[in-house]
Amino acid sequence: MTQTAAIDPRLFRQALGSFVTGVTIVTTRDPDGRPVGLTANSFNSVSLDPPLVLWSLALNSLNLPAFRDAGYWVVHILAAGQRDLSQRFASRGADKFAGLDYTTGPGGVPLLDGCAARFVCRAAFEHEGGDHAIFVGEVVDLSIDTAAPLVFHGGQYGQMMPAGRRPARPEDAEAGEFGRYFTGHLLGLAYNAAFADIRREYRRRGLRGSDYTVLASLGLGDGLTRDGLVSRAGNGGVVLPEDAIDRLVARGEVAVEGDRLHLTAQGRAQLAELVTVAETTQRQLDERLTPAEMALLHQLLEKVSGAPETA
Ligand SMILES: Cc1cc2nc3c(=O)[nH]c(=O)nc-3n(C[C@H](O)[C@H](O)[C@H](O)COP(=O)(O)O)c2cc1C
Repeated sequence: MTQTAAIDPRLFRQALGSFVTGVTIVTTRDPDGRPVGLTANSFNSVSLDPPLVLWSLALNSLNLPAFRDAGYWVVHILAAGQRDLSQRFASRGADKFAGLDYTTGPGGVPLLDGCAARFVCRAAFEHEGGDHAIFVGEVVDLSIDTAAPLVFHGGQYGQMMPAGRRPARPEDAEAGEFGRYFTGHLLGLAYNAAFADIRREYRRRGLRGSDYTVLASLGLGDGLTRDGLVSRAGNGGVVLPEDAIDRLVARGEVAVEGDRLHLTAQGRAQLAELVTVAETTQRQLDERLTPAEMALLHQLLEKVSGAPETA
C-alpha cells in the first residue's frame, strides 16, 4: 500500500483525537489459556443484521497472536468510573488480570463486570488495516447497564454531559429573560435548597446562621483567635455580626481561653448533630446525581467560586 506523503503523522493523530469516542477493553484467552486484553477506542458498529462489530489492533501488540487465534473475544464498553481499569489495560505487557475479579464466557473468554455494556463476539473476519489488524466479530451475547460511559477526546478521558438547554446570551437581558439564566441566580437557588434542612435544624435549636458559621469554623480549627475566626468566616463569604462570638459564649457553646476560642462539649455536640443533618442532605444529593455528575458539579463549583480545586 502506498503512503500519502502529504499527511503529517502528528497532525493526523491530533485530528483523529477530535473525534469523541467511548473506551473499551477487549479481552480473550491466549492459546495457553491465559486471559489477555487491552484498552481500545477503535471499536465501532458494522452491521445490525447480522449483528457485527469491529475494532483494530496494532500489529506490534503483544496480544496480536492471541486475538488472531481466538474463537471468541469480548468488547467491554467502560463506565465513567472505570478509568483506572482503562489505564491498567493500556499498559503494555503487564499482567492486566492480576488480582482482578472476572467470570468466563464461551471458549473461556474473560468477562469483566461494572461496564456500561458488554458484547461477546464470535471471531468472524480479520482484515488488513495498514499498521493495524481489523477484527470483525459477530455478537452472540450482550449485556447493558445504566452506568454512564467513559469518554475519550484529544488524548484525555472525559465524561458525558447531555447538551441540555442553550447557555445564557446577552440578548436574554433585553428580553427580560436573563435572570432565569443568570448563573448567580441558579447558584443562589441551589445554595438555598442544599442548606434548607440544616437551616431548619439550627433555627429549631434557637441558633442563627452566624452561630452555625462560628460553630462550623471552630469545628474545622479549634483554638482560633477572634480575628482568625472572623477571617475564616469571611473566606466562606459570611460577615459575622459584632455579637456573633459572644452570643455563643453566653450560650455555653464556645469558651474563651486567653485570646483563643474553643468549642465546649455542648458546642461540639450541637455541631455534631448539625453535621449529621448535612450528611443526610449530601446522601440525598448523592442519590439524585451519578458519581460522575457529582464529581463534575464539585469541579465546576470550585471553578466558579475560585476555591482551590481538590484532586
Ligand atoms: C483510550 C485508549 C485507546 C486505545 N485504543 C487502542 C486501539 O484501538 N488499538 C490498539 O491496538 N491499541 C489501543 N490503545 C493502546 C493499547 O491499549 C496499549 O498499547 C496496550 O499497552 C496494548 O497492550 P499489549 O501490547 O499488551 O497488547 C489504546 C489506549 C488507550 C489509552
